[in-house]
Amino acid sequence: MTKEKPRLPIQSRFIYLAHCGVSPLYSGAHQRITEISADHSEVGSRAFGDYTGILDRLHTATALLLKTGAENISFVKNTSEALGLVAQGYPFRRGDEIISYIHEYPANHYPWRLQESRGVVLKLLPNRDPGQRATPDLPGGWLISDLERNLTRRTRLVAVSHVQFTSGFAANLQELGALCQAHNVDLVIDAAQSLGALPLYPEHYGISAIASSGWKWLLGPVGTGLLYTSPDFRAKLGHVMAGAELMEQGSDYLDHTWRPLTSGKRFEYSTSPVYLAAGLEASITGAILPWTPEAIREEIFRLQDILIENLDSSAFTPQIFPAPNRSGILSFRCRRPAARIVQALDRENVVVSERGGYLRVAPHYYNTPGELAQAAAIMNRVGSQS
Ligand SMILES: Cc1ncc(COP(=O)(O)O)c(C=O)c1O
Repeated sequence: MTKEKPRLPIQSRFIYLAHCGVSPLYSGAHQRITEISADHSEVGSRAFGDYTGILDRLHTATALLLKTGAENISFVKNTSEALGLVAQGYPFRRGDEIISYIHEYPANHYPWRLQESRGVVLKLLPNRDPGQRATPDLPGGWLISDLERNLTRRTRLVAVSHVQFTSGFAANLQELGALCQAHNVDLVIDAAQSLGALPLYPEHYGISAIASSGWKWLLGPVGTGLLYTSPDFRAKLGHVMAGAELMEQGSDYLDHTWRPLTSGKRFEYSTSPVYLAAGLEASITGAILPWTPEAIREEIFRLQDILIENLDSSAFTPQIFPAPNRSGILSFRCRRPAARIVQALDRENVVVSERGGYLRVAPHYYNTPGELAQAAAIMNRVGSQS
């Protein structure tokens, strides 16, 4: 990386490699949240004089990251809320079809399952290993050929994760976007495991909507999420939630004329947790935007490679995907049960996580080569114990 990396407070106590779980809060975000809540306590509602400005700055920062306009961004509580607003608001008709993948995170599964009560058919792509073209025993990924086979004239929408949360398989958005555009199908992406770690530019790939949480690769506060919607897609969606922040007439609350906002603000239908929005904006602006997404991705891959080179391959087998399918999550099959390794590493202040039978190691760009080499040495020790 050309610019010096920040050193986070967490690095004085832990080797923190669990950015696919809950990340440490960026210190600038902590400071911002503390400032606003202190003001709230000391000056009451005056602390929120800049309420609109806080949300606007978050929209702008997120839009810079996604290379889109601020009007396409909405602040939400989590990925599930964002996908729920999209799924419930989508103008499905009985017999319409949605295609997803069999091993999606709940945030990107249940909102689509709910549509079955509207007569919509949810088709789930089978689990595949894109490297070997066989059905793996653990979650892997899915194949574009399977998706193509499942497309029919009733397919309205494809909803998949950019990065699968257990294996780390990244969807090839170039290929996926082109296929969806060719079939006039809306593409909805769960980017909880990629936003802040990998480049993601919806307008390059014709993506209709992106949902993400803020507390993983964006290093933001728990209870924050983001939604991107393209203008055409947004215009198709019906209203699911309504409240005081929905209308053009703003704080003229006794005017109940139905004049909903048309920008992404329409999804911020009522009072938002602005401390958290300000915290997320501080994380994106201070910890992510000073670097390009490409530089962040390359640094994460460099750190992963250091780990792989130093690990005992008889105890840890990395799940390696071809380059376009690689992500910030590096998953291992282990000789010992992964959950036991996580506990043993935790005792040594090395923080990793376990999901779906894999040991997931997820360094962020601010981690150092020394931390990864040290983590490998500790992993080799605990991974070979019986
Ligand atoms: C792929 C994916 N989507 C979404 C989430 C989080 O969902 P929510 O923001 O609704 O808690 C996670 C968390 O692990 C995830 O891995």
